[in-house]
Amino acid sequence: MNEAFDVVDVIRTKRDRAHLSAAQIDWVVDAYTRGVVADEQMSALAMAILLNGMSRGEISRWTHAMIASGERMDFSGLSRPTADKHSTGGVGDKITLPLAPLVAVFGVAVPQLSGRGLGHTGGTLDKLESIPGWRAGLSNDEIVGQLEDVGAVICAAGAGLAPADKKLYALRDVTGTVEAIPLIASSIMSKKIAEGTGALVLDVKVGSGAFMKDAAQARELARTMVELGTDAGVRTVALLTDMSVPLGRTAGNALEVRESVEVLDGGGPADVVDLTVALAVEMLDAAGRPTGADEVRAALGDGRAMDVWRRMITAQGGDPDAELPVARHTEQVRARRDGVLGELDAYAVGVAAWRLGAGRSRKEDPVQAGAGVEIHVRPGEQVAAGQAVMTLHTDTPERFPRALEALDDAWQVAPAGTAVGQRPVVLDRIH
Ligand code: URA
Repeated sequence: MNEAFDVVDVIRTKRDRAHLSAAQIDWVVDAYTRGVVADEQMSALAMAILLNGMSRGEISRWTHAMIASGERMDFSGLSRPTADKHSTGGVGDKITLPLAPLVAVFGVAVPQLSGRGLGHTGGTLDKLESIPGWRAGLSNDEIVGQLEDVGAVICAAGAGLAPADKKLYALRDVTGTVEAIPLIASSIMSKKIAEGTGALVLDVKVGSGAFMKDAAQARELARTMVELGTDAGVRTVALLTDMSVPLGRTAGNALEVRESVEVLDGGGPADVVDLTVALAVEMLDAAGRPTGADEVRAALGDGRAMDVWRRMITAQGGDPDAELPVARHTEQVRARRDGVLGELDAYAVGVAAWRLGAGRSRKEDPVQAGAGVEIHVRPGEQVAAGQAVMTLHTDTPERFPRALEALDDAWQVAPAGTAVGQRPVVLDRIH
């Protein structure tokens, strides 16, 4: 087949800081997906994009070329509007679990097509797979049927959505080209736009446990994604949220499911509840069903969100009443003196949970359902000498030393009476 462009010319264009034309972008994304552009050529182009950036027009075209590489889902036949949430990933971020059923209570369907964890951040599907019988893989017809019957579905994104991104993301992962805002924004938004949601709320994390450690960069990523969504006709808003400390009191698969069920039962840690409610309010608003925070919060306490959760888990083969797996071994991390916990670093807790077996280093690795970190004392809370600050859980106790090492400088006890500043969970809103 005669190709429209020479890939070396396309690479040179970006290397020399010029703009790629729409036709060049459409061709290079398609040719890479077809295998005509080689991995080493695409990695040179990705590095040129990382170093030299892209204009708004180029990012938008790149996103659309990735969408065009696969199928688009269509929920327009549903009897209710749709809204989805995407988090850029954090430690203890189990928010999708209570959020999807909570939003469904108010008549908005939630098609939450999710992924698995890689590195120190957990994946929603890994968490739900700790529920006996639950399955992540659904056909498109099953997704639509469950959205109509139950109102919420959390499942694996099918291979048909933005296949160009799947190939490119795997390449970026091994070529040091993940951290480019145009590539991250187009990667996330191509999948979300192809998924066919009517409204989208982005939870862009900032802090040590997040992809973006720096607020200015996180804000730029959020703004780029909001523009891409809005330009594609998806009502999109972003919240910038804190990821300097873990969310809630657990990081690990079954541990996080247990905490999510507490939230659905009207309890759970305040930061998890507050963020769940804040995101639900945004999703309902973006979907055209504005609802006040107090009304949303009430559905967590009165059984309505729990009812949708139980139906959602059952519809995917899970038993909502089954005992969740528990790790075979535990070890406690104890305070050496009285005082107040000064800090608890999200990244270190994420690495510890990962090393205990909650996460994977390669995408084919299995995860342990029961592994992870349970946090007994959060920053600002009193602690006594000898008291457990955290409990580590694993099936493979030889993992404890490396997990403990990750936590060495992650927390400290300040003298009693020290005022520990509390960062709000929601730092900014971008729309
Ligand atoms: N998540 C994605 O889906 N893509 C990226 O590029 C980064 C995070």
